[in-house]
Amino acid sequence: MFKSIKYAFAFFVLLGGLLIAGIQAYAVNITAENNSCVRCHLALSSTSFVGTKSHSWNGSIHQEHGVTCDKCHGGDPAAKSERLAHVGVFSSSNPDSDVYYKNIPKTCGKCHGAEYYKFTQSFHYKKLETTGQGPNCVTCHGSMVTSVLQPDDLANVCERCHNARLGVFPYVPEKAKAVLLLLQENKSLLSADKKLYTSKADLKLLDTAQANISSARLEWHTFDLDAILRYLQNAYGSLEQLNQPAKTAVQKKPAAKKK
Ligand code: HEC
Ligand code: HEC
Ligand code: HEC
Ligand code: HEC
Ligand code: HEC
Repeated sequence: MFKSIKYAFAFFVLLGGLLIAGIQAYAVNITAENNSCVRCHLALSSTSFVGTKSHSWNGSIHQEHGVTCDKCHGGDPAAKSERLAHVGVFSSSNPDSDVYYKNIPKTCGKCHGAEYYKFTQSFHYKKLETTGQGPNCVTCHGSMVTSVLQPDDLANVCERCHNARLGVFPYVPEKAKAVLLLLQENKSLLSADKKLYTSKADLKLLDTAQANISSARLEWHTFDLDAILRYLQNAYGSLEQLNQPAKTAVQKKPAAKKK
């Protein structure tokens, strides 16, 4: 069959390569295989608006966790045809759509109940409900939720309404930016300290710091900047006490800014 053992070897190497490539492609597309929304939409050209939007889901945290299109847009992911799959799917400008701006918090809240609850306690939520104005989840997390907000972007979001011209708490954007920076600093400090300190007493302090940082992240959703600051100060207080009894290797940490 083969002219020489060399060719036979090359043949099997090639075959093996194809097999591995096949398995990889299958693993990557396993959600796509089962979900008609994903399968059809990822094949759409990225020159179209709908195509671009669809592709932006790819690689997002939701894609990684198998949160497919239908989880936010509705529709029937088992239906093969576009017409049947789209029953219940509407443009985001349609008040019946699950992603109509007023409906967005509730849609996200199906899975992010804690953030949703906090958000419903905020002044901005009431404003969103009554006037349709005000930030909702995607204002801060991107329209296809591909990101968590960075400090400069956050300031831009707030500045739309909180500025000198409109006179509504114009200090808000700068303060919000500073508070988010502080949250990020505390997060990296915590992860660095987690590697440095391992005694039983330290682990307890690290847990307390972690809990306070989680509360600070959650509290964003009420927009209560002072409450966020209090949690961050508590977190920092715990981190400062790390390794206290031994009084060794205590590093000077940057002081938490009080504002
Ligand atoms: C067989 C292909 C196909 C399937 C299956 C499919 N879609 Fe679509 N979808 C399209 C095409 C094509 C468009 C663009 C239609 C247009 O521009 O008129 C579109 C448009 C959309 C839009 C934009 C609607 C608008 O009016 O702005 C959303 C949202 C959407 N699809 C979600 C879904 C969801 C969710 C599913 C699964 C439950 C799904 N699609 C299944 C092909 C498909
Ligand atoms: C985590 C929730 C979520 C997931 C998952 C998601 N989307 Fe979206 N999508 C949204 C939201 C919210 C909007 C409206 C954004 C806005 O107001 O800017 C949107 C907007 C769109 C639009 C623009 C048209 C419109 O109606 O505004 C298209 C098209 C779209 N999504 C398609 C998809 C497809 C296809 C998938 C899966 C590959 C998908 N989405 C997955 C939340 C999601
Ligand atoms: C079907 C459930 C589901 C829905 C609906 C959903 N998410 Fe998620 N979301 C998840 C899962 C699962 C994760 C990843 C694990 C985690 O962080 O909890 C996640 C992660 C996130 C993250 C963390 C991102 C990061 O980098 O840490 C944000 C922000 C987020 N989602 C926002 C939203 C928003 C905004 C909406 C609505 C437009 C939404 N989600 C709708 C399930 C969902
Ligand atoms: C004012 C802007 C803003 C709005 C509006 C907003 N978020 Fe957030 N969200 C944030 C910030 C800031 C963080 C924390 C980011 C960090 O830790 O770096 C966050 C974190 C998250 C996380 C990750 C939490 C974690 O601990 O892993 C989820 C999930 C989330 N938000 C969901 C939502 C949902 C759902 C809504 C709407 C009900 C929403 N967000 C509205 C700013 C916002
Ligand atoms: C669409 C407009 C709009 C956007 C965007 C907006 N706000 Fe507001 N915000 C308001 C209005 C209006 C008030 C209330 C003014 C009043 O009470 O008279 C307010 C009040 C506040 C208050 C004071 C609440 C209180 O009464 O204690 C804080 C803090 C605040 N916003 C934070 C933020 C932050 C942080 C952002 C950006 C993530 C933001 N806002 C984005 C419109 C907005």
